[in-house]
Amino acid sequence: MLGLAGFAIFWVLTVPKTHGATALLGLSGNADKGALVFAAAGCASCHAAKDAKETDRLILSGGRAFPSDFGTFYAPNISPDTEHGIGTWTLAQFANAVSFGTSPTGKHYYPAFPYSTYQNMELADIADLYAYFQTLPASAEPAKPHAVPFPFNIRRSLGMWKILLMPKGFHLPETGLTEVELRGRYLVEAMGHCTECHTSRNFLGGLRTDHWLAGGPNSDGKGSIPNITPHKQGIKSWAEIDIVTYLNSGFTPEYDSAGGAMAEVVENMAHLPPEDHKAIAAYLQKIPPLPKP
Ligand code: HEC
Ligand code: HEC
Repeated sequence: MLGLAGFAIFWVLTVPKTHGATALLGLSGNADKGALVFAAAGCASCHAAKDAKETDRLILSGGRAFPSDFGTFYAPNISPDTEHGIGTWTLAQFANAVSFGTSPTGKHYYPAFPYSTYQNMELADIADLYAYFQTLPASAEPAKPHAVPFPFNIRRSLGMWKILLMPKGFHLPETGLTEVELRGRYLVEAMGHCTECHTSRNFLGGLRTDHWLAGGPNSDGKGSIPNITPHKQGIKSWAEIDIVTYLNSGFTPEYDSAGGAMAEVVENMAHLPPEDHKAIAAYLQKIPPLPKP
């Protein structure tokens, strides 16, 4: 009996979330603005083919592998192909995926899709992004199934992951932030998913939010991810202009250039206006300085 009651509670708690029927009313979406959301949110970094350059980064055919402690995930085809991509999806289905990690058939997506960050995105931005997606080339590349073993292949249990381990809303509190810092917070914490690489994780794959942006081991297994807090182990010595230069060109104050996974982030960031680079810099100088974990 208790087992059954426990199961019922589990089942109710883990129901995948969706937007209410009226949440998206009146949002028409602007594809030009959506192009900037696309760059800031880095969708191409995972959904374009590996090593795709320039306009090929707009072909979101998927296939890239993301190894993790739980198995290997493959990014799906999210081009507007009606058979292999998401060409038949409505705005509501798209928004449920981006905001909540909920699929059109009511299943949970794995957090390898960074909806933990995108949950903070405003619906108007998601509508713009959706409009932009309609303008991208279709690809008939079939999606690859994930190589994720039992028990992690049970998607329903991701509902518990979302309840227990997914951050709730923004990390840096709003009080006292200037308008520029707030924009920076939005770019970093709602779109840029900087935390997905620069914040380390616990053994269940949850972000260790008490080490926010303080760096850690690289989940690819190669080297480590730098601390980008204003701590002496981080980027305390970088002036605002150094951060801005890095984000739009990849050059560090020592004239090194951004490598590894950061090179693609810089490629995305270069599409954003200079005010947005300044806003990100202001945010990075505002967050608490923390040592490497
Ligand atoms: C860090 C890599 C990464 C980034 C960045 C990323 N995704 Fe994904 N995405 C994934 C993975 C991995 C999956 C598969 C999740 C699953 O099957 O549970 C996925 C799944 C999806 C799906 C579901 C597709 C389907 O066929 O069910 C959609 C839609 C999607 N992503 C849209 C986006 C959009 C829009 C962006 C940018 C705002 C984005 N993704 C950015 C990795 C990423
Ligand atoms: C996909 C993983 C990933 C994402 C997402 C990511 N970074 Fe990085 N970042 C890295 C890696 C790896 C490096 C180290 C690059 C190198 O060694 O050249 C780095 C380096 C940096 C540096 C330079 C630090 C130093 O000491 O040299 C800054 C600043 C930075 N990232 C800021 C950001 C910001 C801001 C965002 C979000 C807009 C972001 N990163 C998103 C992986 C990532």
